[in-house]
Amino acid sequence: MAEYVTLTYEGRSYQLPVIEGTENERGIDILRLRTDTGFITYDPGFANTGACKSGITYMDGEKGILRYRGIPVEELAERSTFKETSYLLINGRLPSDRELRNFSIMLNDHSLVHEDMKTFYQNFPRLSHPMGILSSMVNALRSFYPELQVTEEEINFTVTRLLAKVRTMAAMSYKISRGHTVVYPRPDLAYSENFLNMMFNTPVKPYEFIKEVVRALEVFWILHADHEQNCSTTAVRVVGSGRVNLYAAISAGMSALWGPLHGGANQAVIEMLSDIHASGGDYRKAVERAKDKNDSFRLMGFGHRVYKTYDPRAKIMKRMCDNLLEALNLADPLLDIAKELEEVAVKDPYFVDHNLYPNVDFYSGIVLRAIGIPTNMFTVMFAIGRLPGWIAQWKESMDDPQWRISRPRQIYTGPLETHYVPMSEREPS
Ligand code: SDX
Repeated sequence: MAEYVTLTYEGRSYQLPVIEGTENERGIDILRLRTDTGFITYDPGFANTGACKSGITYMDGEKGILRYRGIPVEELAERSTFKETSYLLINGRLPSDRELRNFSIMLNDHSLVHEDMKTFYQNFPRLSHPMGILSSMVNALRSFYPELQVTEEEINFTVTRLLAKVRTMAAMSYKISRGHTVVYPRPDLAYSENFLNMMFNTPVKPYEFIKEVVRALEVFWILHADHEQNCSTTAVRVVGSGRVNLYAAISAGMSALWGPLHGGANQAVIEMLSDIHASGGDYRKAVERAKDKNDSFRLMGFGHRVYKTYDPRAKIMKRMCDNLLEALNLADPLLDIAKELEEVAVKDPYFVDHNLYPNVDFYSGIVLRAIGIPTNMFTVMFAIGRLPGWIAQWKESMDDPQWRISRPRQIYTGPLETHYVPMSEREPS
């Protein structure tokens, strides 16, 4: 492999080092570009820009590959738990039996939320979006837990505390938004069971665990656990680069995830399918609108910055829809519409030419509906799943000797130098 690329401009040549990753992807190292050449690069949306070196998640968008710490997501979805996958992402390896038991104990010991936080929840307007509540409350954790986050032990404690509390905070926002009694976490329940119990247990009707539902939630969270340098992870890294506390960096990631082009797409998909269903099920009209450049409508749940083939997570999620609905003896007309929509779209030249395939959000909402999660909490579910990935990426950036405060440059296109004009001399409008 050539160790350099040569940049030639106006008779001058500059050599820029080439760096290569463990999966042979190559990058041009421009650490000294401006110093040596006076040039910067220009790449809105960073589609061609590597922001960091990372050993956490590997994606191959052309082949539809996704691996966490080298392990294919298909194997983890089949054989692991969300708790074990979280440990893998954050610590870089699968835990021993003792380590996993200690991790479980820590997650249970810190799953309660400070009682004073309930006052915060009760003062949000009743129709507040759960993502706005969750990102605010995660940021507020700093006020309740101002401990240092310097030593490895302090950081690990804070990380485990956040993983433990996020599901309690999510369930609390749901219960309080409905004016229901808050259900507290139970030490005898595992991570996903605890969340389901806090969400759906009521004094008059104890929640009944169905193993297929519990497993579907585990797999849902495993599939969302990390996805290398996506929008919200980039937000966590950028905000974290200012050396702010973990809670603030994660709160920024949650805000980024909320957008309908990112994690908010799972809610937008169900709203789109519901609209199609309500208007008689004419999914072909949605496909035509998505192709119309004069129409801002997009086929939500389709397309991806990296995957130019089927998102491997969507394949698993689609199978899970069928298995879960069969186990619950449920039929969801939105699943039928989704399948028909996919069948038409993936054969349509526009979608084929643009490499647009279902992404993780296309079928995930059907799974969440079957579990009983309200639509406005779908992105909260994505956030709980992505939390271990955000934490792993934040920790990796904090330990990266090349990681500096994020401060991109720009190509200025504003006015040349001009001068202040006193009000008396300005043109009347
Ligand atoms: C997630 O990055 C990650 O890893 C994200 C994620 C994760 O796990 O963190 O995978 C989670 O966010 C999945 C994506 C969820 N969003 C959606 O489903 C929203 C719908 N999809 C899009 O808006 C879009 O595909 C994006 C946002 C996902 C990707 O946008 P890009 O890479 O910036 O692509 P683009 O908007 O520049 O589109 C390229 C072309 C355009 O056409 P042209 O102008 O070139 O002719 O493809 C078209 C777009 O109009 N296009 C679509 C489309 N997505 C792209 N046309 C119709 N419907 C769509 N869904």
